[in-house]
Amino acid sequence: MMLPMNDFDKPVDNPLLSAPTNYLHDAVLAAAKGAWPLVGVGDKNAADGAAVKAMRESLSGADFGGIVVIGEGEKDEAPMLFNGEHVGARLQPDWDIAVDPIDGTALAAAGVPGAVAVISAAPRGTMHAAPEVYYMQKIISGAAGIGVLDLDLSATENILRLAAVLAKPVSEITVAVINKPRNFELIDEVQKVGAKWHRFDEGDVAWGVAAASPDSDIDLLLGLGGNPEGVLTACAVRALGGFMQGRLAVDGEAELERAQALGLDLKSKLELHELVGEGRCMFAMAQVTDGALGKGIQASGSKLRITSYVVDSLTEQALRLEQVL
Ligand code: FBP
Repeated sequence: MMLPMNDFDKPVDNPLLSAPTNYLHDAVLAAAKGAWPLVGVGDKNAADGAAVKAMRESLSGADFGGIVVIGEGEKDEAPMLFNGEHVGARLQPDWDIAVDPIDGTALAAAGVPGAVAVISAAPRGTMHAAPEVYYMQKIISGAAGIGVLDLDLSATENILRLAAVLAKPVSEITVAVINKPRNFELIDEVQKVGAKWHRFDEGDVAWGVAAASPDSDIDLLLGLGGNPEGVLTACAVRALGGFMQGRLAVDGEAELERAQALGLDLKSKLELHELVGEGRCMFAMAQVTDGALGKGIQASGSKLRITSYVVDSLTEQALRLEQVL
């Protein structure tokens, strides 16, 4: 399924978004706006805290009910919308909610590209929530990867297969991999096969969505990034009709022991429908700083121009929006 995209520069009225997507969209705009005074100020927890507060306030008036099953932040002891928290004004919790009021907090604090505010929703009980595990091995592409790529294959094989199915030379395949020591061997392999490595240091939600999106320069995302971020991304990938698989992962002995003690499955490959199950799924992202799918916040006097990206499997629309708040 290829979703129609609206013109990037053309402002679109928010009434195009049907509830509860409009409330999710409001929440990411609020988070981005809340964080803005702290962008470039050097204090990542303060920026994250401002975004959390603004997102929580926005959600408290939203006409839907949901439970936060993925409240990013615990790993870094950052402020968070906590797991189990009820959001929305309705008492009946119909939705699983995954939030990351700022993905790329260090980037926001430094005022450099890549920071976004994100939220996803899917029917209650359908998100793969394993908050005890911090990492996930990921492979994400557009629809072309379905039935072609596989997490169990080598990076080399996956890149060769994707190049073949996209009818492009390997040298034109761009692979986003988060630049962390745990991915250095993988990055080496991507470069050795002749593909282009797209480097980014933090914030893999936006790059994962870009890999699944028909209109970005990123063909594939590989590597070990955050587990909560993986499920957040999976909602967008499913709504976009893209390809994704993941596997829970740990970093270091202490985490391994913890996961083993909890009996968590670190072996099984999770298909997209296991990351986010059947039914409607929605994803909203607001750019804080410049990113793969939009420009960062632009201030003009007391007004902020904020770019956002919204995907909803129900309306089958992937929209780039721009609003002045
Ligand atoms: P936060 O900004 O929410 O802390 O996450 C940033 C991030 O880069 C994620 O995008 C990524 O999935 C995860 O951290 C990787 O974790 P780590 O920084 O521990 O390698």
